[in-house]
Amino acid sequence: SSEQQPYRTAYHFQPPKNWMNDPNGPMYYKGIYHLFYQYNPYAAVWGNISWAHSISYDLVNWIHLDHALNPEDPSDINGCWSGSTTLLPGEKPVILYTGSDTKNQQVQNLAVPKNLSDPLLMEWVKSSHNPVMAPIDGLDPDNFRDPTTAWQGPDGLWRVLIGNQMNGHGRALLYRSKDFVTWSRSMVPLHSSNKTGMWECPDFYPVAIDGKYGVETSSMDEVTKHVLKASFNNHDYYILGNYTPTTDEFSVDTDFMDSGSDLRYDYGQFYASKSFFDSSKKRRILWSWIQESENATDDIKKGWSGLQSIPRTILLSESGKQLIQWPVEEIEQLRAENVSLQSKELKGGSLLEVSGITASQADIEVSFDLSNINEAEPELMDPSWIDPQILCSQKPASFRGNVGPFGILVLASKDLTERTAIFFHIFRSHDKYVVLMCSDKSRSSLREGPNKVSYGAFIDIDPQIEKISLRSLIDHSIVESFGGEGKACITARVYPMLAIDKQAYLYAFNNGKFDVTIASLNAWSMKKAHIASASRRRKLH
Ligand code: FRU
Repeated sequence: SSEQQPYRTAYHFQPPKNWMNDPNGPMYYKGIYHLFYQYNPYAAVWGNISWAHSISYDLVNWIHLDHALNPEDPSDINGCWSGSTTLLPGEKPVILYTGSDTKNQQVQNLAVPKNLSDPLLMEWVKSSHNPVMAPIDGLDPDNFRDPTTAWQGPDGLWRVLIGNQMNGHGRALLYRSKDFVTWSRSMVPLHSSNKTGMWECPDFYPVAIDGKYGVETSSMDEVTKHVLKASFNNHDYYILGNYTPTTDEFSVDTDFMDSGSDLRYDYGQFYASKSFFDSSKKRRILWSWIQESENATDDIKKGWSGLQSIPRTILLSESGKQLIQWPVEEIEQLRAENVSLQSKELKGGSLLEVSGITASQADIEVSFDLSNINEAEPELMDPSWIDPQILCSQKPASFRGNVGPFGILVLASKDLTERTAIFFHIFRSHDKYVVLMCSDKSRSSLREGPNKVSYGAFIDIDPQIEKISLRSLIDHSIVESFGGEGKACITARVYPMLAIDKQAYLYAFNNGKFDVTIASLNAWSMKKAHIASASRRRKLH
């Protein structure tokens, strides 16, 4: 029952039990969305990693199928680790994944559907040529993994990236192949950095400049930029640049860990993500693993660990300097009861309960108008020198500022001893305004165990001309927040003790000294997604 399982989600993707980590090989094939993921069939801890497989018609409701890949061959006996799918011409999907082989060496393997006319792609056959890439020529066999979706260059060759580490530094190795079986490594990696360690789960894809649509991975359209994402330091970082397909050069606008630039998909919990191009709606969609934030004994007790984010569409921002993410529109079909407010003043130091919806399972959109912007605290700061996460913990939701903190309190107990705050705080720096967004978990639970660190990000918006907007998806133990219409995203896992199910409340608040106005607020109860299991039918003959 939900009383015993207050942290299970209602509309986030999760298996019925046990451990899940990275999303793998997401794709759209013959009317069906496929999601594979790193899964331990036996326990709520990492191990025995297989590719579990689920399908959906709408990215909301899911059917769990039998595993696509199990660790049972010499080239993957110690685990079928992360990888991607590629749709070859004639709509032929293939999987490239990392195997941990009999010697615990990381190698890359190929698998193809057993029966292409089955749109569910239930059964996969591993190639007899496996492994198709091995850690030879001085590559570290412990740091050679996570193939990307392949793209085809103008010379007809397929290209794929593999995450790697050399002398302690991250790099994306580039391999080329004519037939997906024989691969040769390019002498130069596509990109590398001496400011990071190992790159896990790289992703590389085009985004349209000034476009409203996603771009297919192999597109050679010239009005695009390319995104390179790598997972390290517990976060998914990305950089933007120009890719030249004839030479495989990638010249970057800003690099990983450059001072003054810290581009992350999400400034909270969000790791090992992967994107795919959805040809049915011409959009690029991002999936990500959202880990637990309590310790392993709690995971074992509850019998499961790990969620997937709500899938997000990705576009390049108008400025061309960052990405914009937004929950896929399909999730809105789960919206039920609604409460709505317009032009409501939130006096300095005030609290407003938003009642009438299921606050533990909700979708909230709110925007604020600031008429007192010139009162923002003058902070002699250059955002490129300040860590927003530290600023959020120094000035939490309870801090008495000038313009801010203002925002929402979610998963709050009636007495407010528990609450997770998502808020904004405006500062003045020279002749500009700086908008800080925080997701403050410091008071999220009366329990001792869960991690209660706060997250923060600066949002590239001008509060003099734009409203400050926030959307938060709340689902029992996860709060996914999108600030500035998707310019800054922060995902948090929280484990309240009192604020569960019907005992969870929602508030808007303003702890600043100056008034702000809720331009509009819409909150919805969210229905439960339908998740079903279907095992392969036993053959009767
Ligand atoms: C990232 C990761 C990958 C690896 C997989 C193993 O979370 O460590 O690099 O392939 O998980 O489950």
